[in-house]
Amino acid sequence: MDSIKDQITNLQILLRYYQYQYHIMDQSEVPDFEYDKLIDELRSLEAKYPQFITVNSPTQCVGAPIISLNDVKKVYHEVPMLSLDNVMDKHSYLAFHKRIENELQNSDPITFCCELKFDGLAVSLLYEQGKLVMASTRGDGHNGENITNNIRTIRSIPSDLKGVNIPDRLEVRGEAFMLLSSFKKMNDEALFSGHKVFSNPRNAAAGSLRQTDPRVTIKRQLSFICYGLGLVEGGKVSTSHIECLQQFQNWGLPVSEYTRLCFTTNEILKYYHQIQVSRPLLDYEIDGIVIKIDNLLLQKQLGSITRTPRWAVAFKFPAQEQITIVRDIEFQVGRTGVLTPVAKLDPVHISGVIVSSATLHNTSALHRLGLKIGDSVIVRRSGDVIPQIISITNRSSSGLSVIIPTSCPACGSVLQYLKGKIGIRCTNGLVCSAQLKAALKHFVSRRALNVRGIGIRIITQLVDKKYVTTLSDLFFLKVNQLTEIEHIGPITAQKLINELEKAKKTTFSRFLYALGISQIGQTTSDNLVAYFGTLDTLIQANIDDLTEVDGIGTVVANRIRNFLDEKNNRQVIRILVDDIGIHWTPIVGSFQKTSSRKSLLK
Ligand code: IVH
Repeated sequence: MDSIKDQITNLQILLRYYQYQYHIMDQSEVPDFEYDKLIDELRSLEAKYPQFITVNSPTQCVGAPIISLNDVKKVYHEVPMLSLDNVMDKHSYLAFHKRIENELQNSDPITFCCELKFDGLAVSLLYEQGKLVMASTRGDGHNGENITNNIRTIRSIPSDLKGVNIPDRLEVRGEAFMLLSSFKKMNDEALFSGHKVFSNPRNAAAGSLRQTDPRVTIKRQLSFICYGLGLVEGGKVSTSHIECLQQFQNWGLPVSEYTRLCFTTNEILKYYHQIQVSRPLLDYEIDGIVIKIDNLLLQKQLGSITRTPRWAVAFKFPAQEQITIVRDIEFQVGRTGVLTPVAKLDPVHISGVIVSSATLHNTSALHRLGLKIGDSVIVRRSGDVIPQIISITNRSSSGLSVIIPTSCPACGSVLQYLKGKIGIRCTNGLVCSAQLKAALKHFVSRRALNVRGIGIRIITQLVDKKYVTTLSDLFFLKVNQLTEIEHIGPITAQKLINELEKAKKTTFSRFLYALGISQIGQTTSDNLVAYFGTLDTLIQANIDDLTEVDGIGTVVANRIRNFLDEKNNRQVIRILVDDIGIHWTPIVGSFQKTSSRKSLLK
């Protein structure tokens, strides 16, 4: 057996490696819960055997050591940027609460400020005379990196604070992160143009902040939320944490609408559960809540230990990651024909759900990871999105290589390699049954034509029976065709036909979105409608006209033009509108509305 010293040294080396991977390389080789478990193990060993603590032990420094990447300039944090201690369950949270009460020996009840724990990167913003002069990363807590130019690309961060009583020097701390919707959009675009695809929003945000070219960062659309104070000189702020946040908001800084004061443990536990329920609805990742003593004077009284304050704790949600084994890899054809590798897994429980399959971004992710059947992998499930494989933890010595298909698994047609061989695609369009099923699923979905009662189960059978070969065929279905679908009797069949009838009355924007033009989401559809007003005007628009619309660049403009120039697409649109009678109320006076035009200054 290893000696205690060896055990501690090995853990220190391993954890430093993981820290390096996470903070410097923006990759994670172990799930967060595994990392937390190891660091806890090291901490308790070091507590018992303090003679083996070294100055560079991962327990003694907050983040990664500063390693020069592209000559980034270092910034010294006059007020250190601390990390947070974690609790994983109610019992440990109550122990934290009790410790605070005991240590403060205060007869007055303690007020706590509860916040979301954002899963992004800690950033410090320094304002001098109300002007943003410096932005930096946390680094090791004492020395960070200067990321001012990249931070200036975040729209919600003001370069000038507004209002009164702003201290001469004020340091505001918060989290920079990428919205899930921006992350998805960025990866979809990267997939098409052959660029690197990020495995999660945190890595994407980290990658963006480390960009040496802020023009790249600006395209990545990061968000920011303030959660604390650093240095304050030449002025005063409130002694209540929540009042400081309110003051930040008055000065024009972004704060979270979910922050609440809580007075009892029950209120805090209720907040934890409420946030857990709301979590899937948020457009950003959080991994728990943060509980802080609200009174800054009491915070000062309690102070900090090496890397964490004693007045705050992160109450984490149960792990959303697990380790499991890949048993097979299949290829799924999506709406645009791109093949996505889907790993079939040994089933694992992840936050209350059994996960038995997970996707990889694209075929190149398979090559990049070098994934083989039999390997152990980290699977992450966040919100209601399809679980994803994040990384490999253990390679199987007898692992089987994945066979990349040369023909479409759904229709058998020859596949096309996308630019940079980042992915493969079936170009058979709606003739390919998999693409037709995906297109129909999107067409009838809630945000598109909202045909209630028709989902992928019915669509699959209708396509397999060849009753539906294009979008418009749905509206020609007869009762006797629908009753051939499992579990559908004549009454349900008639109901579905009635639903289809109802769906014919829609909005122009829903109709446009329903067509499933690549990269055209709800917002872009709204903008197109606001700008062009009518279908005929849109159909006649050229690339220059299209790029005038907010949110549309030349790539998307070309996609729209290509879609509209395709003979079959034009025919389907005509049948849907002229023969089937899909209709909407014309938008009066919104033709080429200025609000949806790009600003001339851009
Ligand atoms: S306060 C002195 N509040 O979590 C306390 N941190 O695990 C310093 N984080 O480095 C942090 N949401 O990057 C605080 N509402 C929140 C937070 C938060 C996310 C991050 C932050 C910190 C890390 C510690």
